[in-house]
Amino acid sequence: MSFPAVRMRRLRRTQALRDMLDQNTLNPSHLIYPIFVEENISQSVSISSLPGYVRLPLAKVAAEGKAALAQGCKSVFLFGIPAKKDEEGVSSYAKDGIVQNAIREIKNVCGAELVIIGDVCLCEYMSHGHCGIVRDNEVLNDPTLELLGKIAVSYAEAGVDVVAPSAMMDGQVAAVREALDEAGYDQIPIMAYSAKYASSFYGPFREAAGSSPKFGDRKNYQMNQGNQREALREIELDIAEGADMIMVKPALAYLDIIALAKANFNIPIVAYNVSGEYSMVKAAADNAWIDEKSVVREILVGMKRAGADLIVTYHAKDIKSWLN
Ligand code: PBG
Repeated sequence: MSFPAVRMRRLRRTQALRDMLDQNTLNPSHLIYPIFVEENISQSVSISSLPGYVRLPLAKVAAEGKAALAQGCKSVFLFGIPAKKDEEGVSSYAKDGIVQNAIREIKNVCGAELVIIGDVCLCEYMSHGHCGIVRDNEVLNDPTLELLGKIAVSYAEAGVDVVAPSAMMDGQVAAVREALDEAGYDQIPIMAYSAKYASSFYGPFREAAGSSPKFGDRKNYQMNQGNQREALREIELDIAEGADMIMVKPALAYLDIIALAKANFNIPIVAYNVSGEYSMVKAAADNAWIDEKSVVREILVGMKRAGADLIVTYHAKDIKSWLN
């Protein structure tokens, strides 16, 4: 059968029909709310390339956890900016480091209602801005693994709910799993940044976190933009190493990778709607070139449709206004 017996428009006639047949809906529970927390500041500091976003002082993070809950979100993603950076990233695993303290503050106020996810990486803590230990201008893989394990354990000791290794070192998921298990944290899940591309969309985040590499770039550890096959291998390896959820990052220019992940693996898939994607929308919206709320809905539902179960997004802080 074909036209005129078949008419696709029949099922689009009313809002009720459209709602009834909706395949992908947005639910704030599935959005992860990023928070930047900075050591040694007493007032929030705005981030110029991430409009509407700030670096928070420790004293304000618990209230931000509450704000996430008020938006209907179930989780926050913590990124720390330490007072001191050095060559070994010492403050990344300090007992009273900025993220460790933030975890305690938020947990105290929000309890079990809110899932606290901690980003496990070194670029924010290293004076050179790379995601691992550097010797002779080279980012070393294996020596970095021990540090990542230490960070994860220090987060777990502070009460984190999920750890998210994001350094793109080979073997990082296994190293983090082993370190957690050895320390008695076998119940803490790992959200693995599995398919993380070397992307120019991270610019505003690097301004926010002061984490740009001081020499070179991240292309010998983050993935090559032209490739799909290695994304599947990265995901496969991370699952074998014990990942409980996997991530594709960035999201908008990589929807094909999300769809491939969905087709190939039976595991929750997280899309990271990164800083540059957010800033582009904000810039266009501020000029009234696009309608922010409907564009944000369209972008996020597109990620769902591609296969994302969860989405990390800076738009989470406004979700109430654009869902209604
Ligand atoms: C840490 C990290 C980065 C982002 C998340 N975790 C920066 C990077 O890899 O340079 C970027 C997130 C964003 O742009 O929103 N390695």
